[in-house]
Amino acid sequence: MNLKIILHPRALALALPLVFIAGQIQTKAADAAANKKLVVGFSQVGAESGWRTANTESIKSEAEKRGIDLRFSDAQQKQENQIKAIRSFIAQGVDVIAFSPVVETGFEPVLQEAKKAGIPVVLSDRAVKVSDPDLYVTFLGSDFVEEGRRAAEAVAKLTGGKANIAELVGTVGSAPAIDRKKGFEEVLTKYPDMKIIMSQSGDFTRAKGKEVMEAFLKSPNAKDINVLFAHNDDMALGAIQAMEEAGIKPGVDIKIVSIDGVRGAFEAMKDGKLNVTVECNPLLGPQLFDLIEKIANKESVPKRVVSQEGVYDQSQAAEELPKRQY
Ligand code: AHR
Repeated sequence: MNLKIILHPRALALALPLVFIAGQIQTKAADAAANKKLVVGFSQVGAESGWRTANTESIKSEAEKRGIDLRFSDAQQKQENQIKAIRSFIAQGVDVIAFSPVVETGFEPVLQEAKKAGIPVVLSDRAVKVSDPDLYVTFLGSDFVEEGRRAAEAVAKLTGGKANIAELVGTVGSAPAIDRKKGFEEVLTKYPDMKIIMSQSGDFTRAKGKEVMEAFLKSPNAKDINVLFAHNDDMALGAIQAMEEAGIKPGVDIKIVSIDGVRGAFEAMKDGKLNVTVECNPLLGPQLFDLIEKIANKESVPKRVVSQEGVYDQSQAAEELPKRQY
C-alpha cells in the first residue's frame, strides 16, 4: 500500500523551525563533546627533592600546553593523603587518574574503587605491588633496579673493587629505595671486597641525608668508610655538608655515588665533591600525557614504558652542566 502523508502548509511552517532547532542542539552537543577538556587527577609524592620539583614542573607545564584540566594534589610524602586524593578524583569523575605512589603497597582497595568507577589509572615514576595487574593501565618510569646496578659498577670503577660503603637509603617501602638497593646488592655479589658496612634511610631529603651522615661519621667504624652510596642526589648533597663540617673531604676521602642527575649534583661534581651521578629522568610530562591521551581515546598502550637515562662522572660535569634542564 502506498501511503502518502500530506502536511497542511501551516503544520509544515510550525514543524520546520523545530527540525532546525533539534539539528542545532545536536551539533552543539557534538561540538561540546569534541571540545570537552580532558580532566586528569594527578597525585604527586611531595616536594622532597630537586628531582621531584622538576617532575612536578614537567607535568604541570605539559598539561597546560595541551589544554588539559589537571587536578593536582601534593601528598606531602604521606600515603594516606594520596589515598584521599585518589578517592576525591573518583568522586569528581575525572577522565583519568595518574599518580606517583609514595610507597609500593597498600593501594589495592582504592585502585579497586577506581576500577569500579571505570576510571583508568596510570602509574608515573613509581610502581605499586597489587595482586591484580588490571588495576592500572600502564606504568611509566625509570628502571630503578638498573640504576642501582649502575651505581654499584661506578663504585667498583672508582675503588678498584675495594669499598666499605655507607648507604643512604630512600623512603622506606618506596619502589626506588627497594629496587635501587636490590640492583646495587646484586652487583656487589661480583665484588667480594665491596660491602655495605652501614645503611639507613634519609627519606630522599637533603636535611635527613645530612642528619644520617652525621650519625654515620660518629659511629665506631666511621674511619672504615671510603664510599657513600646515596639513593638520590639530595641526600648526597646533605651528606657532603656533614662531611665538610666533620673535616672530611667529600669526593676524595670518601668517594660519593648517587642517583638522579640534578643540577646540584653536577655542580658538586664540577667542584670535585661528588664522583658519579646515575641519571634518573624526571621530565616525564610529555610521555605521560601522550599515554593518557591515548588511553582517553581508547587506544592501546604498552603496560610498561621505561625512560632513557645515562651515567655521568666528574670528567663530564663542566660540559654537561649548562645543558641540564633540572
Ligand atoms: O621516585 C624517584 C625518586 O624520588 C628520586 O630519585 C628522588 O630524588 C625522588 O624523591
